[in-house]
Amino acid sequence: MSSFLIAPSILSADFARLGEDVERVLKAGADVVHFDVMDNHYVPNLTFGPMICQALRDYGITAPIDVHLMVKPVDSLIPAFAKAGASIITFHPEASEHIDRSLALIKEHGCQAGLVFNPATPLHYLDYVMDKVDQILLMSVNPGFGGQSFIPATLDKLRQVRARIDASGRDIRLEVDGGVKVDNIAEIAAAGADMFVAGSAIFSQPDYAAVIAEMRAELAK
Ligand code: DX5
Ligand code: ZN
Repeated sequence: MSSFLIAPSILSADFARLGEDVERVLKAGADVVHFDVMDNHYVPNLTFGPMICQALRDYGITAPIDVHLMVKPVDSLIPAFAKAGASIITFHPEASEHIDRSLALIKEHGCQAGLVFNPATPLHYLDYVMDKVDQILLMSVNPGFGGQSFIPATLDKLRQVRARIDASGRDIRLEVDGGVKVDNIAEIAAAGADMFVAGSAIFSQPDYAAVIAEMRAELAK
């Protein structure tokens, strides 16, 4: 995979033809499937569970599936998503009773683990887990819905996290999620992100390959 990863969020995909749509976006050049799990408790929306992840695997999707848990509690869903084919599982630290235990549970089930930071969530949750995370996801919108506008304050937060990752010497992916578009992805990368979730920016377009190519051209600048 290239150093920059494009991860379309299936929240904006065509759910009447989900397998075909995911296959199409991967053939168009996407790297990872971003899988937004919402429970209408931690966030004010409801999406899908492990069975949809399993359905994508049964359909033949082999690309990494990046499960973003917007749920509370967290731990009870980790084994089910791991068994259903998740590659990466990230969760919001505010939603876990024991962050270290939730991270360990994800790893015990063979997945890569990460924490997700809402726009107002402070970074001190990283203080004791930089040696345990494989990925850090910064929300550039408040979680729950696609199609929102990028929150510019995220850029400074990205720079802070990039500095912490570089200081750690560990190969931790820095993912950004929410309002990522062709016209802001270069600025987001310059702030330190290397993995980009994009839902509406990609799935709203008739030609997925064209918009992903535009994003990659911006990242190559
Ligand atoms: C929001 C989700 C995001 C969202 C991104 O809670 O976590 O992944 O689907 O959608 P866009 O790219 O349309 O902002
Ligand atoms: Zn997400």
